[in-house]
Amino acid sequence: MNLFTLKNRIAMVTGASRGLGRAMAIGMASAGAHIVAIGRDDQSLRETAKEISAAGGTSTIFQTDLCDDTAVTDMVQTAIKSLGRIDILVNNAGIAPMERTTDISKAEWERVINTNQNAVFLVSQAVGRQMIAKKNGNIINIASVFGKMASNRSLHYCASKAAIIQMSKALALEWAPFNIRVNCIAPGFFQTDMTAEQQVSEKHYKFLINKIPMRRFGKPEEIVGTVLYLSSDASQYVTGSTLFIDGGYSIW
Ligand SMILES: NC(=O)c1ccc[n+]([C@@H]2O[C@H](COP(=O)([O-])OP(=O)(O)OC[C@H]3O[C@@H](n4cnc5c(N)ncnc54)[C@H](OP(=O)(O)O)[C@@H]3O)[C@@H](O)[C@H]2O)c1
Repeated sequence: MNLFTLKNRIAMVTGASRGLGRAMAIGMASAGAHIVAIGRDDQSLRETAKEISAAGGTSTIFQTDLCDDTAVTDMVQTAIKSLGRIDILVNNAGIAPMERTTDISKAEWERVINTNQNAVFLVSQAVGRQMIAKKNGNIINIASVFGKMASNRSLHYCASKAAIIQMSKALALEWAPFNIRVNCIAPGFFQTDMTAEQQVSEKHYKFLINKIPMRRFGKPEEIVGTVLYLSSDASQYVTGSTLFIDGGYSIW
């Protein structure tokens, strides 16, 4: 028995057009899942689909802005109508602008909270209704070490990621009777567009890796094992947990 197989499962991954989302989508497709890839940039989504197909998997892409409530509802309804169901939802899309709190406008605060937190609520609610009806489902939310630790010039980001950890626990509690598991992954520093600025400056990069016990950023493919564990039957008695994948950053 292969505990980690995702054969015959349909998995929606938000923010699958780049970075960690693309890596998780390719990894889950390689384990047998059909991927429903969500993002705003059509070209990048097509590239993800191409890589999934090169890995022997299948996918459907939906170009959707997760900050557009109506677009989110329409996208989930269309996906369920055309594919029959969503078995696994990975809420991964996110943004991480850095600004001093005194410079954050209300609009910018709302852009971060809408993308990182409100979209997780909206997509989980829309997909969750269908999971509740069929009494089966698995949701994985991508938070951050900065949902637990603090980061400078990132008040909105820290607030949104702390909320994701707590939302995962509250949803796990509420939806356990419907056989829906909800868990959270809290990554540390990974080599993606999101951390491009930190990687470009050698001084800043060295400063950061000195705080990471494993002394390096993670590679996107290094998050795949965790998402396979949480999305498969390998973790069938695990719910409400948060796994820190951070080279030891949060040990301190
Ligand atoms: N990289 C890290 O070191 C790190 C550390 C801790 C946590 N995380 C978390 O991991 C997740 C992925 O991060 P990443 O590093 O892979 O970032 P990334 O490379 O910047 O990718 C972000 C993804 O989110 C999507 N996205 C952003 N806003 C969206 C919107 N309004 N609607 C739809 N999609 C949207 C982007 O797609 P489009 O551009 O196509 O819209 C893209 O696919 C985020 O939640 C992030 O907070 C990352």
